[in-house]
Amino acid sequence: MCGIVGYVGRRRLVPVVLGGLKRLEYRGYDSAGIVYLQDGKLTKFRSEGKLQNLENIMEDALGASSHIGLGHTRWATHGAPTTENAHPHSDCTGELVVVHNGIIENYHSLRNELLEKGHKFASETDTEVLVHLIEDYLEDDLQEAVTKALARVEGSYALGVLWSGMPDTLIAARNHCPLVLGIHEEEGGFMASDIPPLLPYTDQVVFLDDKELAVLQADNYAVYSLETGEQIEKEVKTIAWNAAMAEKGGYKHFMLKEIYEQPQAIIDTVSGRINPETGSVTLPEMNLSDEDLTGIDRIFLVACGTSWHAALVAKYWIERWAGIPVEVDIASEFRYRKLLINERVLTVAISQSGETADTLAGIRLAKELGSKIVTICNVVGSTMTREAHGTVYTHAGPEIGVASTKAFTSQLAALFLFTLFLAEKRGTMDAKTRLELGKELISLATVIEKVLPVLQDEIKELIENYYDSRDFLFVGRGLNFPIALEGALKLKEISYIHAEGYASGELKHGPIALIDKDMPILGITPRDAVYQKSISNVEEIKARQGRLILIGTKGDDHLKTITDDVLYLPEVHEELNPILYTIPAQLLSYEIASRRGCDVDQPRNLAKSVTVE
Ligand code: G6P
Repeated sequence: MCGIVGYVGRRRLVPVVLGGLKRLEYRGYDSAGIVYLQDGKLTKFRSEGKLQNLENIMEDALGASSHIGLGHTRWATHGAPTTENAHPHSDCTGELVVVHNGIIENYHSLRNELLEKGHKFASETDTEVLVHLIEDYLEDDLQEAVTKALARVEGSYALGVLWSGMPDTLIAARNHCPLVLGIHEEEGGFMASDIPPLLPYTDQVVFLDDKELAVLQADNYAVYSLETGEQIEKEVKTIAWNAAMAEKGGYKHFMLKEIYEQPQAIIDTVSGRINPETGSVTLPEMNLSDEDLTGIDRIFLVACGTSWHAALVAKYWIERWAGIPVEVDIASEFRYRKLLINERVLTVAISQSGETADTLAGIRLAKELGSKIVTICNVVGSTMTREAHGTVYTHAGPEIGVASTKAFTSQLAALFLFTLFLAEKRGTMDAKTRLELGKELISLATVIEKVLPVLQDEIKELIENYYDSRDFLFVGRGLNFPIALEGALKLKEISYIHAEGYASGELKHGPIALIDKDMPILGITPRDAVYQKSISNVEEIKARQGRLILIGTKGDDHLKTITDDVLYLPEVHEELNPILYTIPAQLLSYEIASRRGCDVDQPRNLAKSVTVE
């Protein structure tokens, strides 16, 4: 989704903003722009496509001595991804500019009203309405004009505003879209849609909440309520990530680096949370009382995309070990169906970013209905963590590749911990089992670390026979059915091969019709409780000449009698197979996409953080 960067301070503006936009590229975008103020004049650059195009047209401006301005990467919603529709957008005088992330829902009526008043529009965007509306209210106080304009607006926004009449001030405002301020005494004031652009300059951040406006200057900032106009004291948070964590560090793509970071991400997520002697689990930010946890009789897991697949795995774990019925919902469905939720329901939102619009809307609804809310989240201070009663943080570090990898396996590790935690509180698991499972989880990181380079080599060779396929099926059973879904999602996201995931037992009910000698199928067949069933299913595929790749347990020679293409993984506790079996599915997708020359880190049309509905 759109990315915003704003800066005012002692540094030259263009490198700060351009560098910041690069650090937001992962959010997904199709055009970009920058504006800066110098000698009382606003200068604007915009272009279609990648940031490189913007950089090319800015060659002469890279060293401009401006110290205040805004940048934007646009993910088109209203109007095609053209230069005219790219942000920043200007008012009729050209002295006021706006960058915006979100959707202005009542833009039609506002546009008609403004057209009648004589405003001239230059784009098809909903955003342009904002800048003309602010212009309409502007006399000599930009803060007042923005506040009045936003009172008329329905919809979502993160906003950056600059006016030549107030040459040392940026205005930021937020409603349902993320925006964070970075502050540093010497470096100046920053605003951004996410934390990575701030990391080279400061670790001190202030998260804006909905209906808040910030006035940002080089050596000062203040936050106000858009509803009451009163100033608000905001907490300044310290971010533990550093700038190097958001770099590629020698890997060809962020995605590959992040695949290799998974052992560390799991260790960081688990460490200090399981007592190695008792298996007792501590979740420091949980904030729910034992009564809250023992009093629930149902759990709703709500998420989107890859995080939804983590929820599907967690359903098996929680129902089995904590004995609580679990419903899993895609957030965009959850928010529009009749919810049978009350105070005896616990709603768990799973979200890497903590900003996904549908998931956020879902937990707000559940909260209104009396449910306690827990979020499993990777971003400290993100909106969901602020609105939930409790949080289980995954400690995966920044994930830049649009296709989620380490965030997913860290979510699984956190959800497994959460399961052990619930089971302990509710007395549904004895201490010995808890200890055993806890230890298995901790040692899983070492298993993954060892297997990663070996698997990558094997998969690189293997995909030579598969990379140009048009379709792909992924099948698995039980705990590994969601991993089949995740494998298929990964492949379609980054390689654009049509891929579907199925529960192996469901093949007979339709998808088997697709199988012939040209159809590649990846079967997840570890030696687990449903092994024999899974083998029967892949035999059915073989009988129809499907091109099988199997992933199974080291030492299982039977798999080699079914197909030549077998990837072996070490045996771990079968409850943890979903984490381990995700790794080859990720590598397969990565190697295929890379072989096809795809833009692995920024696949077409996708956004990392979907902050609009
Ligand atoms: C987008 C991303 C996915 C992600 C999903 C949910 O679609 O491209 O990788 O799984 O959003 O994001 P969240 O931050 O809520 O986990």
